[in-house]
Amino acid sequence: MKIIANWKMNLPTPNLGSWTESFYQNVSLQDNKSIGIAPPFTHISDCIKHFKDIRIGAQNISSETEGNRTGEISAHIAKDSGASFVILGHSEVRENFNENALLINRKIKLAIKNYLSPVVCFGEPQDIYKSGDTEDFICSQLKECFKDIQADNIVIAYEPIWSIGTGTLPKINEISEIHSSIKDYCINHLKFKPESILYGGSVNDENCSNLINDKYIDGFLVGGASLKGNSFAKIVNNSI
Ligand code: PGA
Repeated sequence: MKIIANWKMNLPTPNLGSWTESFYQNVSLQDNKSIGIAPPFTHISDCIKHFKDIRIGAQNISSETEGNRTGEISAHIAKDSGASFVILGHSEVRENFNENALLINRKIKLAIKNYLSPVVCFGEPQDIYKSGDTEDFICSQLKECFKDIQADNIVIAYEPIWSIGTGTLPKINEISEIHSSIKDYCINHLKFKPESILYGGSVNDENCSNLINDKYIDGFLVGGASLKGNSFAKIVNNSI
């Protein structure tokens, strides 16, 4: 997957029907298999009906397989609802639910076991960015989250926390360097090659064209700019 919409706890504007219409009216890509949409859980099956050619995924899963976990969705249930991938380790989940690397590691293993492609997010807070320690910070997260895991369908999303929803991005060469380090670290230390390495954080239909020209940026995880069908279509058109 190369371009993924993360709708978070929002429905697309103005509604799913008109989002779909404005997306298909504007998108020029014929093969949409490299596109994913992660709606709220309750809208997964509806999205599968609307988007037959686009992969639909979940925004999280439980770290447990089943049982007394009120309010949670297991990997198996997410798969059963039609999801084909799952976003894991998003900084909002890490922060709001105290999700640590151990839990993320369990979730990645459960996703793989249940045939959900993991899209795993990593990103540094602003103080780490400012002190120039981003690479070390991300590599130690990679080491912990991917302990004992090797698979050929893992997508990694580099999402600096301070860039999410703020309109502020790192410089392209900074993103490129981190993507290159992530790739090297996965291949040389973790012994797997990520399927793709996406950038996420304030991507829109204007900045995506420059970003995608970098050889280490394979695609995007898009939040706010994916809530309108035409703007997400433009990101797809400019990036694939
Ligand atoms: P944003 O969100 O595009 O609104 O910055 C990205 C994300 O959180 O995945």
